[in-house]
Amino acid sequence: MSAGPEEIARALERLSGGGVVAFPTETVYGLGADALSGAAVRRVFELKGRPSNNPLIVHVSGAEMAREMVVAAWPAEAEELARAFWPGPLTLVLPKAGGIPDEVTCGGPTVGVRCPDHAVTLTLLDVFGRPLVGPSANPSGGVSPTRAEHVAASFSEEQVLVLDGGACRGGIESTVLWLAGGPVRILRPGLATAEEIEGVLGVQVGRAGGGARVEGEVLASPGMLERHYAPSARAVRLSESEMPELLARLAERSAPVVVLACGEVEVPRPHVVIGMPGDAAGFAARLYDALRTADAGGPSMIAVVLPEAARGKGLWAAVEDRVRRATTAWDGEA
Ligand code: TXA
Ligand code: MG
Repeated sequence: MSAGPEEIARALERLSGGGVVAFPTETVYGLGADALSGAAVRRVFELKGRPSNNPLIVHVSGAEMAREMVVAAWPAEAEELARAFWPGPLTLVLPKAGGIPDEVTCGGPTVGVRCPDHAVTLTLLDVFGRPLVGPSANPSGGVSPTRAEHVAASFSEEQVLVLDGGACRGGIESTVLWLAGGPVRILRPGLATAEEIEGVLGVQVGRAGGGARVEGEVLASPGMLERHYAPSARAVRLSESEMPELLARLAERSAPVVVLACGEVEVPRPHVVIGMPGDAAGFAARLYDALRTADAGGPSMIAVVLPEAARGKGLWAAVEDRVRRATTAWDGEA
């Protein structure tokens, strides 16, 4: 059941008082506060335990709000991309407007901005009439929330008022795209694919490197830190070709392992399989919820099996990125 007018009214009251609200989006839940208030934004950093060098994304009701309150420049590429993707999972990094407090951008000259595709949050933004910061609504470094219950498990109602918008359709975060000068490039892969962005712009865009640094720069997008999106149990990743070896290990092992895998996989007790969809969109939508479910049982290990499908292409690029950050490569031990 999605939040109605009464819940939205309570959320507005919270936001106007400088408080924090969790809002649903098509990607993951966000931790919302008035993006024009430095004090409200500081509260979000405190609640998440977020490092003070990791800037927040600003959420807007549309391109008009972005241009009026958030950014200082709106190049032709921004207009084309906003028309094609908004509301939707594409965050544009642009020079910031004077009214955006330093707390949002960690003192930097650029700001990430996007218009989320969820009716509850679009209504909230419209009525509030101001942009909202919105990092994923999890304690820093943990698995992003894709359901209202996930947020409520991390924060008390006093700390964060949660607007329930059901399960997030996309399941992983937006794509963060550098548009603040020089070549256009992806800082964080996400639900909007490089191929789709290139289709709109008609030029090739740079892809995020595997590590936290892009060509020697300091933390171009600090959310690209190597360990991120991680469950608390030891989590490993392996490919489908390593499955027989894993199954052999599990047969000898009594401490429970949860395996996230596509297709028909059977494991001996006490191990458990969580079935994953074989397509990238389905896998993305299930990933964080499955990691949380796996973690909740307190297993000795979580094993994520990536399908041999189109590696690094389309949406798999973002799915593989998240799995890589949530896990370490399997070393053959179970
Ligand atoms: O899908 C999403 O983007 C979700 C929903 C709630 O909108 N939000 C989200 O926020 O994932 P967060 O804070 O968890 O991740 C924001 C990412 C981080 O990697 C951050 O470093 C990067 O965006 N970022 C934000 N502002 C930036 C800037 N000015 N320059 C470069 N990277 C920036
Ligand atoms: Mg996050």
